[in-house]
This record gives sequence, structure tokens and C-alpha cells, in this order.
Amino acid sequence: MSVKPTVLKLGGSVITNKEKTLTPSLPAIERLTKEISRANVSPLVLVHGGGSFGHPLAKRYAIKEGYKHNVSQVLGFCETHQAMVTLNKMLVDALIKHNIPAVGMSPSSCVVTKSGRIHIMFEEPLKKLLQIGFVPVLHGDAVIDSDLGFTILSGDQLTTHLAMHLNAARIIMGIDVDGLFTSDPKVDSLARLVNRITLEELKRLLERIKESKVTDVTGGMLGKIYELMPAVERGIPSFIVNAAKPKNVYKALKGEKAIGTFIERG
Ligand SMILES: Nc1ncnc2c1ncn2[C@@H]1O[C@H](COP(=O)(O)OP(=O)(O)OP(=O)(O)O)[C@@H](O)[C@H]1O
Ligand SMILES: [Mg+2]
Repeated sequence: MSVKPTVLKLGGSVITNKEKTLTPSLPAIERLTKEISRANVSPLVLVHGGGSFGHPLAKRYAIKEGYKHNVSQVLGFCETHQAMVTLNKMLVDALIKHNIPAVGMSPSSCVVTKSGRIHIMFEEPLKKLLQIGFVPVLHGDAVIDSDLGFTILSGDQLTTHLAMHLNAARIIMGIDVDGLFTSDPKVDSLARLVNRITLEELKRLLERIKESKVTDVTGGMLGKIYELMPAVERGIPSFIVNAAKPKNVYKALKGEKAIGTFIERG
């Protein structure tokens, strides 16, 4: 591929209503797919998270913990995957409506993890789709795991894996807050937004965040940052923006200035 792709992850926190199980945020999906269409970036790979589609079911059936030879878990795997496919279809339908040649792809069909980490991924269809100009749209999913039987593959891990394997130019992460803060901005009014940070500075900040036990940062964000770090280490800059606010994803895709956290190797 001559031009390096952009990998954009849309958080489940943005495209679903996290408070209500299996509820999409249709206005957010409509607005974001319009922004992506207007930005007209190519090649582009999209990944989305689970929000209220993936997380509650995965948790109910303990899919992440692996197969415990429990029959209900097997159906739970199906339900979790199917919920993600349903959300994927809503996003892909909206993208196609805005003339983006989007193709939904499920990791459960092309990935095997080993103790939760991507071990095998059959990437040929994805690479060929990109070459032709399609926009593959992947998602966090329930997947087969060679040690655990099955598990959950997060959209965050998948995003970094794809960025590194496709030699991406950049990663854009759209979430429901303005970026990485010094603590969870939803519970700590003193949390400060980090605008620009190098990998070394980030490692020091993460140590401080972990030690300060002031707020629970084990939620979505810390894991996300740890997933992003190997990509940044490889020279792929990552920009975390608030995709719940209009225009941010558009600006990030266009390379325009936007509020968020820019992480670079330094
Ligand atoms: N230090 C922090 N900086 C920013 N956000 C934080 C921090 N600590 C915790 N958070 C929380 O992390 C959340 C984002 O992670 P979350 O996993 O919920 O979203 P997501 O990854 O977009 O969704 P999904 O996992 O469904 O794709 C924010 O809503 C915020 O409340
Ligand atoms: Mg998350």
C-alpha cells in the first residue's frame, strides 16, 4: 500500500447509550458517519467498541475469563458476538448511506488469541479490501483463544494490532471525554486534560495515576493507553479525541487542530 492507512476507533461509549443495555446512540452514529464521509480520508480502517452491546453480555456470561465447560456460556458467546454484529451493521448501514464503501468484518472469523492476546489473524482479505478502496469496519468481539477456549478481544487491542500490521500513519481514538486526564474526569472535578505527551512522559504519568488511587482509573482508559503504547513506540502517533462532541472526529481525520490528547514517541 503506497499511502499509509489511518485507523480510527469509535468508542462504544459514544455510539451506544452505555446506561441502557443494547441501545445504540443513533444520533451519534448518524453524525459520526457524516463526519467520516466529509473528511474523505483513504485508506481508512474503522474499529468500534462494544458499549452497551458488548460489555453487559460479555460480563453476564464471563466470556473474557474463558470457557469453563458451562453450556450457558456457549450461548452467551453467541449472544455477545451477535450483539456486536448488530451494532456493526448499524454503523456499516449508516456509512454506506453516506457513500462510504464500508465492509463489516468480525474478528471471531479471522482471529485466534492466546491468553487474551492476538496470536493469529488472517489479514489478507482486509489488506486486499483496503487496496481496492473499501473501508473495513471491525469491532471488539468474542473470539476463540488457544489457551482459554474463548475470550473477549477488545476493540482497543485490535486497533493497535491493525495499526502496527498495516503500518498505519496514525491512530485516532474517539471516546466520550476530551482525552486522557490526570484522573477520571467523570468523578474528579480536579482532573486535568493532557494535551500533548511523549511516551516517556506518559509512562511517568501512568505510574502517578496508578499510585494516586484517588479515583478508579482501571475502567476503560488505563487499558486503552496500555494498548496504544506499543504503536506509539513504533512511531505511530495516537490522537484521543472526544467523539461525542461534533466536528472533533472530522478535524482529527483532516489533521486539523482539535481538543484532545496527542501521544507521540518523542
Ligand atoms: N484518566 C482518565 N482520563 C480519561 N478518561 C478516563 C480516565 N480514567 C477513567 N476514564 C474513563 O474512561 C472512559 C472511556 O473508556 P470506556 O471503555 O468507557 O470507553 P470506550 O473505550 O470508548 O468504550 P468501549 O470500551 O465500549 O469501546 C471515560 O468515559 C472516562 O470516564
Ligand atoms: Mg473501552
